[in-house]
Amino acid sequence: MKLDEVKAIVTGAGSGMGRAFALGLASAGAQVVVADVSMDGIRETLDEGAGLPGKLFPCEADVSSEESVRAMIERAAADMGGLNALVNNAGIFRDGLLVKVDKQTGKVSGAMSLENWNKVLAVDLTGPFLCTREFARQVIDSGTKSSVVINISSVSRAGNRGQSNYSAAKAGLVADTKLWAEELARYGIRVGAVAPGFIQTPILDGMRPDMLEAMVSQVPLRRTGTPHEIFQGVKFILECDYFTGRCLDIDGGLHV
Ligand SMILES: NC(=O)c1ccc[n+]([C@@H]2O[C@H](COP(=O)([O-])OP(=O)(O)OC[C@H]3O[C@@H](n4cnc5c(N)ncnc54)[C@H](O)[C@@H]3O)[C@@H](O)[C@H]2O)c1
Repeated sequence: MKLDEVKAIVTGAGSGMGRAFALGLASAGAQVVVADVSMDGIRETLDEGAGLPGKLFPCEADVSSEESVRAMIERAAADMGGLNALVNNAGIFRDGLLVKVDKQTGKVSGAMSLENWNKVLAVDLTGPFLCTREFARQVIDSGTKSSVVINISSVSRAGNRGQSNYSAAKAGLVADTKLWAEELARYGIRVGAVAPGFIQTPILDGMRPDMLEAMVSQVPLRRTGTPHEIFQGVKFILECDYFTGRCLDIDGGLHV
């Protein structure tokens, strides 16, 4: 697919990597729907993208809500005169150990709450499920010949301590990437994933510097990645018509 022919929805495009994807695509002449729960974030992305060769459209949407996703897909197709790409990027995390044991008493003193489990699964796994299902419905029913879905997973999908909810969601997303690619190939829909390592976005800004340093010391390349470096993976998947069903690891060589 040529980038200047892309008509994409990028979820979570009001911040971090999603913003970089939306701006990168618009720089290449694509039309992009900037979808996010945060209207402030959407406005900032649109302001940054003013004057780029492509076109950016605002869309307030919650990927965990079926109603909101349906409305987003319908509006995106109307705004851009069609739809041929979806980047499932919106994501949250609520870290915590499965159970926390008090060193003094040896007894369980805390645990990951069901609420935090459900919240992360709702946005990071149910969200891409709803968006991909409704995207597929739209492109098939409208007779779109070729289209692409890109799921943003994570290096944590291998199972990262303190992230039962997030690791499960991001692993599930790569499993679904493979099976959606198989189910949807006959309709001209390719499905790929990108699994970033530690990337310099607002998520990392909130971390304690000593914790960040300890994390980065585990990365063979000894630095965090940039949103642009992840965009290079997104761009590759869009442009390479023989890529489907696989996950690109862009993580500086990190293993968790
Ligand atoms: N930053 C990293 O190091 C890193 C590493 C691996 C994977 N990831 C993944 O990359 C993606 C982007 O991460 P980021 O670091 O840019 O995060 P970020 O927090 O900067 O941006 C996430 C965006 O998603 C939006 N969002 C949250 N819930 C939403 C919902 N229900 N519906 C629509 N939008 C919603 C937020 O408002 C925000 O604008 C996420 O899926 C994240 O899990 C990030």
